[in-house]
Amino acid sequence: MASQRLCTLILLLLPAISLISPSQSATCISQKFTNNKLYTHCNDLPSLNSFLHWTYDSANSSVSIAFIAPPAKPDGWVAWALNPTGTGMAGAQALVAFKDAQGVMTVKTFNISSYATIEEGKLSFDVPEKTAEYSGGLMTIFATVVLPEKGKTVVNQVWQVGASVSNGFPAKHEFQPANLNSKGSLDLLRGQTTGGGSGGNGRLKKKNIHGILNAVSWGIMFPIGIIIARYVRTFESADPAWFYLHVFCQSSAYVIGVTGWGTGLKLGSESKGIRYTGHRNIGIALFSLATLQIFALFLRPKKDHKYRYYWNIYHHGLGYTVLVLGIINVFKGLNILDPAKKWKSAYVIVISALGLIALLLEAITWVVVLRKKSSKSTKPYDGYNGQGRQQPLAP
Ligand SMILES: *[C@@H]1O[C@H](CO)[C@@H](O)[C@H](O)[C@H]1NC(C)=O
Ligand SMILES: *[C@@H]1O[C@H](CO)[C@@H](O)[C@H](O)[C@H]1NC(C)=O
Repeated sequence: MASQRLCTLILLLLPAISLISPSQSATCISQKFTNNKLYTHCNDLPSLNSFLHWTYDSANSSVSIAFIAPPAKPDGWVAWALNPTGTGMAGAQALVAFKDAQGVMTVKTFNISSYATIEEGKLSFDVPEKTAEYSGGLMTIFATVVLPEKGKTVVNQVWQVGASVSNGFPAKHEFQPANLNSKGSLDLLRGQTTGGGSGGNGRLKKKNIHGILNAVSWGIMFPIGIIIARYVRTFESADPAWFYLHVFCQSSAYVIGVTGWGTGLKLGSESKGIRYTGHRNIGIALFSLATLQIFALFLRPKKDHKYRYYWNIYHHGLGYTVLVLGIINVFKGLNILDPAKKWKSAYVIVISALGLIALLLEAITWVVVLRKKSSKSTKPYDGYNGQGRQQPLAP
């Protein structure tokens, strides 16, 4: 049977699909600035959920940047630095943003000559412009810096976030792996960063795995399972088979979907300051509804039980809600992850094909049902099938 093969094929392909990861997907591309500033490059930095946007001007060897990061606490600080003499914190020439005593965002410059000597004051290069903003849990530093060495376009950057500020001085940050890996080199021309750790790639990989698991389960397998239940059972020869197929398809979709849902919760808890409320809420609703559907399997009354009618309404109602919400959430997720265009197109093609198959089967079902009806009317006493079985078209 075609649908069985499809369902099994997807199960078999799953590990293969997850090995291909849509690269080049970056969150920073979709970030907008309130002052309508545009930058030629951006990177999702490999740790601390931070982003750097920049435009390099070779004529005067200056670079204007926007650095975005969530402070560890709302009254904390964020910092971005160039290190002309080394790769880490020692030697870094830092721009630090925080709320001043009046609660207004400010940017101060700090000369971090060593871990012990952090002094507010001039940096070893010019900073003609610096401002900061705080909104939605994120602090943004806007600045222009004149590069310390003219023409040297690969620089060492360091960034950091902290939880509090006392007397205009940023308090010590944490020493978690993310805080220690927040450094790397930045190629101002090619728009690439190399990180101190593998955190960034790790995060992207996790997002891709999350996307693939959920798109396959909620976005493809659940719809196939519904198609099987609605159309395959019209054919009497497929009678008990469609049921087991439906249960098999939906329970494997559920297992994969819940795994994907778990990866989503983990991603959500790791990304402070950035919330995709709609995507998250639909995800939680999907998990709850699908779990109710699993219960439906165990609570199913016999076919001729008087409550079976209500069970059908409950099961089918939830099923179609999961179908619609699942597809909506796959598109929402695709917009967030923003992978290469081909991934979105691939999903659109798959879901349109399924829609087309459903449409075709709907037509066939009508023909079959009408034929049955007309043959029934010529044989008035052969009504057993019609009463005992459900109407094939009852949604
Ligand atoms: C560098 O030149 C650009 C345009 O030529 C100008 O907008 C920018 O302010 C200059 N930067 C500095 C630091 O002089
Ligand atoms: C930064 O501090 C170090 C040590 O105190 C000092 O040698 C250096 O000149 C300072 N840099 C600037 C730009 O003031």
